[in-house]
Amino acid sequence: ALVEKGAFRHFMEKEVHEQPESCQRTLSAYLDPVAKSVRADIKASIDFKDITRLQIIACGTAYYAGCIAKYAFEKIAGLPVDVEVASEFRYRTPAMTAGSLAMAVSQSGETADTLAALRWCAGEGLKTAALVNVHTSTMAREADILWPTHAGPEIGVASTKAFTAQLSALLSLVVCAAVQRGKIDAAQEAHYVQLLLETPGLISQALVMDSELSKVAAIDLSKSSDVIYLGRGAMFPLALEGALKLKEISYIHAEGYAAGELKHGPIALIDEKTPVVVIAPDDELFEKTASNVQEVAARGGRVIMITCVPEKVPALSGDAAKSLKIIKGPACDPFIAPIIYSVPIQLLAYHTAVHKGTDVDQPRNLAKSVTVE
Ligand code: G6P
Repeated sequence: ALVEKGAFRHFMEKEVHEQPESCQRTLSAYLDPVAKSVRADIKASIDFKDITRLQIIACGTAYYAGCIAKYAFEKIAGLPVDVEVASEFRYRTPAMTAGSLAMAVSQSGETADTLAALRWCAGEGLKTAALVNVHTSTMAREADILWPTHAGPEIGVASTKAFTAQLSALLSLVVCAAVQRGKIDAAQEAHYVQLLLETPGLISQALVMDSELSKVAAIDLSKSSDVIYLGRGAMFPLALEGALKLKEISYIHAEGYAAGELKHGPIALIDEKTPVVVIAPDDELFEKTASNVQEVAARGGRVIMITCVPEKVPALSGDAAKSLKIIKGPACDPFIAPIIYSVPIQLLAYHTAVHKGTDVDQPRNLAKSVTVE
């Protein structure tokens, strides 16, 4: 069927705004909203008790979804996870442990490197899974287990709704793994399932940041030649994804960094010309991230802080106070924060590209799916 933009200027904008529905559809395939549990068919698709290690393989935005999922798999399900870009994994002869599950994460299910890596794992005798948005794709057909995302067709080259659908499916699988590995009881399962079920509504609330982010994009980002993104914990790979999104569609050089690594290099880049986007949900690392904000502001850097707890940000004095812009997102639990905070990151890149006048849906040199090496 022909997919149209409707009232939106670009497919990317439409796809960003579709995320309450695309996440809802994906979550419905993994969670039982009445029993407040992971669906029986998903629990039957795998027994994470038998899995010793999860090897996630992906490229681009899908790779960052895997990196984010690692935090939750290890913390909540106690499952060791390795995540690697497929182009490295496939050529380095990795040492695989018995009982590993190889999982490809891919929107298209056709990315050449990811497919080759998955095939290599199958050849090593490993169990394989494909978490893909195109359910008829080669990866979907070849893997032992198909874990679908239901983002619907994604037309914009820069991935948005497929990414949050991947996160929705991956976090649902984290709950599945935690139950099967005896790390959480039924009450805790219901708690995490409830959090996931609340994400579509919270995404809608996050979309309200749109006009404020458009202003920041125009004033702070669109005229910059470099932007730094910082985050801690699962917000570190989201910072990498934010930087990737900005590079892809606005052609502005951007780097994502673990906020704790600031003083090991990127702090040397801080000046009034280089905006620093800080992703700071209300989690146990908030104070540490807030102190990085102070370090940047004290050096004359401009900070754009995205947080749901502006009241917790320590007051800055003098010029430093003027260099801090806080954009308030909806309150959310750290477990689902990667999904909710994806929205402002996408909107920031989108509006920056629009202000610069680049081709948002068809950025130069990029392809929607890289099916040849
Ligand atoms: C290309 C696209 C990205 C995508 C990546 C992986 O680089 O431009 O948006 O994240 O391929 O694609 P896949 O289909 O495997 O998720």
